[in-house]
Amino acid sequence: MALTRLKEILDDALSRIKESKTSEHIANIRNTFLSKKSELMSMFSMIGKLDPEERKNAGKEINDTKLAITEALEVKEKEISEKELEEKLMSEEIDISLPGRNFSVGGKNPFHIIKDEMTDIFLGMGFEVKDGPEVETDLYNFELLNIPKDHPARDMQDTFYIDPNTLLRTHTSPVQARTMLEKKGQPIRMICPGKTYRRDDDDATHSHQFAQIEGLVVDKNINIGHLKATLELFAKKMFGEGREIRLRSSFFPFTEPSVEVDISCINCGGKGCNMCKGTGWIEILGGGMVHPNVLKMNGYDPEEYSGFAFGIGIERVAMLRYGIDDIRKIYTNDVRFLHQFKKKI
Ligand code: DAH
Repeated sequence: MALTRLKEILDDALSRIKESKTSEHIANIRNTFLSKKSELMSMFSMIGKLDPEERKNAGKEINDTKLAITEALEVKEKEISEKELEEKLMSEEIDISLPGRNFSVGGKNPFHIIKDEMTDIFLGMGFEVKDGPEVETDLYNFELLNIPKDHPARDMQDTFYIDPNTLLRTHTSPVQARTMLEKKGQPIRMICPGKTYRRDDDDATHSHQFAQIEGLVVDKNINIGHLKATLELFAKKMFGEGREIRLRSSFFPFTEPSVEVDISCINCGGKGCNMCKGTGWIEILGGGMVHPNVLKMNGYDPEEYSGFAFGIGIERVAMLRYGIDDIRKIYTNDVRFLHQFKKKI
């Protein structure tokens, strides 16, 4: 067997490997030169028939040729597969020019927009924010607010009882008593936003669960002028500079005198329209001077201290501000309703 033939095979294989461009080419070349039936491989079986002289080197030469071809194939194969992978990645690149999928961002519920705004107004006047339990005892919800067991004012605040002595609070006013007992005779300027409950038949303006912001100021020389100025500033900040307020006399067991506070109609400005039922005024809250009994029961000497208090319905303010006609819309989380307040965050 001529060694020159081996050289020819090697040259032929190497030049074809050099020119190959795809993994298919490589597979063909491997088949041509290294399969059992290939010329090179069949040379191994012919070694035995050679002269002893030739036999000596033939095995080594054939094997070297086989190794050289195998190695060249491997190098080229690696090169091609890397290139093919790169091309595949390029062709499958994500098309970032496609418009993305839309997702909608929610907004604050109008209730929370207004609650936060109201809180900010009072924070700006130096009030601190207090909290209290929604499951309350008869003592705090009624007794310490000058509403004894048989008081008729209890009829207006029927609620959900857990036991004869424990109930869902009917107003945020119990936080007045809690704060006075906590402050132990020190001056107070606090608000308490929170949920309240009443046994109401739900309709467009009533809900068994609603929310209030309670306010309480106790100090020396506090008079009804402070109450009026505070609520006037609140009304102007909440409903616009042009708002005026008026105090009408009313009754709450925990205040004396008690007042109902109206703002000049936000729709007609006071001339009289459907919204204000022709009166020019809209009621927004209740308040008054803290009753001496309440001060006394909660550790303040009414001869030395006086105070004012108020309670504002949060939903009512939100409904007036945004013209919401049904309180239930605030709770039912219909996105068509909520989306209207997106920009108002
Ligand atoms: N607690 C009263 C209610 O829910 C509202 C209220 C009126 C609170 C007068 C007060 C107040 O602090 O002084 O109907």
